[in-house]
Amino acid sequence: MPRKVLVTRRIPRAGLELLAQADCDVTVLQHDEERGLSRQELLHSVGGCDVLLPLLTEPIDRQLMESHPALLGIAQMAVGFDNIDVAAATELGIPVANTPEVLTEATADFTWAMLMSVARRVPAAHDYMQSGRYKIWGPNLFLGADVGSGPDGVRKVLGIVGYGRIGEAVARRATGFDMEILAHDPSKRAIIEADEKVHWAELEELLRRADFVTLHPPLTPRTRHLIDGDALSRMKPTAFLINAARGPIVDESALVDALRSGQIAGAALDVYEDEPEMASGLAVLDNVVLFPHIASATDATRSRMAAMAATNAVAHLEGEKAPNCVNPEVYGSPVWRQRRRRRSI
Ligand code: GLV
Repeated sequence: MPRKVLVTRRIPRAGLELLAQADCDVTVLQHDEERGLSRQELLHSVGGCDVLLPLLTEPIDRQLMESHPALLGIAQMAVGFDNIDVAAATELGIPVANTPEVLTEATADFTWAMLMSVARRVPAAHDYMQSGRYKIWGPNLFLGADVGSGPDGVRKVLGIVGYGRIGEAVARRATGFDMEILAHDPSKRAIIEADEKVHWAELEELLRRADFVTLHPPLTPRTRHLIDGDALSRMKPTAFLINAARGPIVDESALVDALRSGQIAGAALDVYEDEPEMASGLAVLDNVVLFPHIASATDATRSRMAAMAATNAVAHLEGEKAPNCVNPEVYGSPVWRQRRRRRSI
């Protein structure tokens, strides 16, 4: 029986090796790391595979899934899966899997790198050195904001929006800075209330009190533009926004206005509303630090993600429950059975 896995773009070797060991016939569609895939390229190629292994850069919508009645599963290499129409996949009998947990610690580390970078103006100071502008030490050079309690001893407030695995890992790190930690996540209220590190706060209170607001929810209709102009206007003029989750959680044009007008002090962004594009004016502001969606980018983490996606892909091929399936209700459904029958003909 053929075991054709279509990998949309080049993934770390660990994933490709695992697929090869499982006797899969692997096609990597795009080898050029600087290029994505056109919808046409994907539509054209998907028909020939048994399992699709995409990245978060490819929209996997109903039309694409409907174009392939024998597709056995989707094994995405990413924890977020907002690029996939999971409801349509379930309706069509296609299991979808992601790569959770292995990237939690790396992403939380990077959230802190972002927070420290924007608070202490790290990239700008580095550029200053590299461009040979440092002539003499001065007491006003690159003044930033305190992250731990400053000389007045007042504890800083960290506001965590989205208290899943990554939000919790960010909170764990914040205890080392002796911060007061507020968390908001309506679906995790009981967990937050049982967690001694953090205090539950309504979003309005969190925005009003936090010195740093860091975003970690998945992108859903509820969280799209959760941080809009109104939310930004509730933040302190000394506060910073950090987003290592998904771009559309923030209304990016409203953020540019808030940063320009000094409504908030700064922002650190790893994700963008219309990635890789940025809202007009964002890139030239001097109170932002910007990164190319690399929060989980450690060698070890990306290798684990690739291996995990490959393991999910092999499970899809075998008709076994994928270890990280996000729509497990699909298994055993008549449409799922029908798909597997089609494939064995
Ligand atoms: C990265 O953004 C991921 O969802 O894995």
